Amino acid sequence: MGRIELEVNGTRHELEGVEPRLLLVHFLRERLALTGTHIGCDTSSCGACTVLLDGKAVKSCTMFALQADGRAVTTIEGIGSSAELHPMQEAFWAQHGLQCGYCTTGMILSAIDLLRRNPDPDEVEIRTGLEGNLCRCTGYENIVKAVRAAAAAMAAAQPVREAGEPPKSPGELLEVGGSR
Ligand code: FES
Ligand code: FES
Repeated sequence: MGRIELEVNGTRHELEGVEPRLLLVHFLRERLALTGTHIGCDTSSCGACTVLLDGKAVKSCTMFALQADGRAVTTIEGIGSSAELHPMQEAFWAQHGLQCGYCTTGMILSAIDLLRRNPDPDEVEIRTGLEGNLCRCTGYENIVKAVRAAAAAMAAAQPVREAGEPPKSPGELLEVGGSR
């Protein structure tokens, strides 16, 4: 049994008795009751379990919880609220980017990471960027539309720069776009 200290959705957690073989996805769902992170396969192929680890999308079924020691994890519960959605959540809602919703939490977190790396992706770049996330409802057309809409909304939310001021970094852009 091990001890883990990590930040999840901005809250510090220190837990004892973590089994070395416990996967991060089970740790989030069973120890922290963050059930927005889904399990859709046992082959590391569906992406339903995607979370952000230090801001980068990872499949939480592909790593042990103890490997997240000292790191910052963001799950779908940490990016917005029902009162104030993240722009990516808002776009998925407005563009009908979900059907059953099973893939949606992982899809949204992967899309947020995609925009962190490429704030203005075209359709091919979105499809390539999200190829690790499968939608069993095959709702890909509207998912692409949602990511395009979120990119536009996040770009529009940037403050006007003074002449000569360098562009915002992708990380700053995400914060401006409403990452919480
Ligand atoms: S549950 Fe992690 S990739 Fe399918
Ligand atoms: S919306 Fe049903 S799996 Fe994607």
